[in-house]
Amino acid sequence: MASYDFERLPDRCNTGSIKWDRYRDRPILPMWVADMDFRSPPEVENALKERVAHGVYGYTNATKEAIDAVCQYMSAIHGVRVSEDWLLWTPGLVPALNTAARAFCGSGDSVLTTVPIYPPFLTAPRYQNRELITVPLENRDGKYFYDWDALEASVTPMTRVFFLCNPHNPVGRVWSLEELKQVVQFCKKNDLILVSDEIHCDLILDDRRHHHTALNVDPWVHENGVTLLSPSKTYNLCGLACSFVIIPDHRLRKLFHRSMRGLFNELNCLGYAACAAAYQSGAAWREELIGILRRNYTEVLEFTQAEMPKIRVTPLEATYLAWLDIRSLQLHHPRTHFEKHGVGLSDGTEFGVPGFVRLNFGCPPARLREALERMKVAYDDSKCFQD
Ligand SMILES: Cc1ncc(COP(=O)(O)O)c(C=O)c1O
Repeated sequence: MASYDFERLPDRCNTGSIKWDRYRDRPILPMWVADMDFRSPPEVENALKERVAHGVYGYTNATKEAIDAVCQYMSAIHGVRVSEDWLLWTPGLVPALNTAARAFCGSGDSVLTTVPIYPPFLTAPRYQNRELITVPLENRDGKYFYDWDALEASVTPMTRVFFLCNPHNPVGRVWSLEELKQVVQFCKKNDLILVSDEIHCDLILDDRRHHHTALNVDPWVHENGVTLLSPSKTYNLCGLACSFVIIPDHRLRKLFHRSMRGLFNELNCLGYAACAAAYQSGAAWREELIGILRRNYTEVLEFTQAEMPKIRVTPLEATYLAWLDIRSLQLHHPRTHFEKHGVGLSDGTEFGVPGFVRLNFGCPPARLREALERMKVAYDDSKCFQD
């Protein structure tokens, strides 16, 4: 029996929602940026109401409650003991990626990552005047893997950092322990700092897969790794701007801290309250959410196979983001084409790979169905059927 409401669609218009504002005056369903059209767990709402009722919102350190909740969560869910002084708090993982690029590379040094990838992995080095090296993931029959030969061939003596996304946005892989050991071996051999973004780690949809935090892959990561996390994706708290970075090594932590000084000293007091409540009391809500997301993913798969067979859905192990191979539709401007038919998707080009779109299915099933039906009209209207 469902205890939480994942069917009702909250009205997000006039809330400053980035996702909804893009199409404010146009009849387009926003299925792009990665936040969900669900209310957060009532347990989190209640904690926020309690914090708001206090009425004083002065400068706030990370609360003991939030720190304890993170340490307890890391130990109970991910099996790693995190000491509280390893934690640094940032208003998001995007600022953390930027900080890492600045902290661990000098000018002329490079960050290495694989494409397709969440766009800020590509912009962070550029914004911080660092070089960027990208290596395509290998697409084997629709599923993605690391291409070790290409990675070895691309790394240079000036490469300092490897940006890892696990689970991976947008290809939906949960990297296996074996693959992660290879990532660590690669970083070790080439003397790279491993920056592991694990923001999607509690959104595993394929129950044959298990998330391994980089911190558990090899003790080397404790001296050479930085792990980025937040409850924001799982519990839909992106607007509360509260994330954390785990850096066990004192020297790396100092470098990171020095690079963030003066930019984001303290966070929003409500963010800490929400973070604590999500990790302490969000488990039952998360479990139901996973059920809805699995159902939605099945709907994406089945609808696509039946109605849009030229589109290939990448097998998804985690996240609420479906990565669709639309190369056979021969669209010049995929985003515009789907927008013309009333659906707002993310274009693969932003992720470093044209010919794909990303569909955010973190929404009530009825909304997803409507989006898929509109996509079907766009599909039938694509160039490949007109020649
Ligand atoms: C891999 C990954 N990292 C980070 C973020 C966002 O980070 P934040 O909102 O904490 O800046 C996203 C959002 O989609 C993401 O997919």
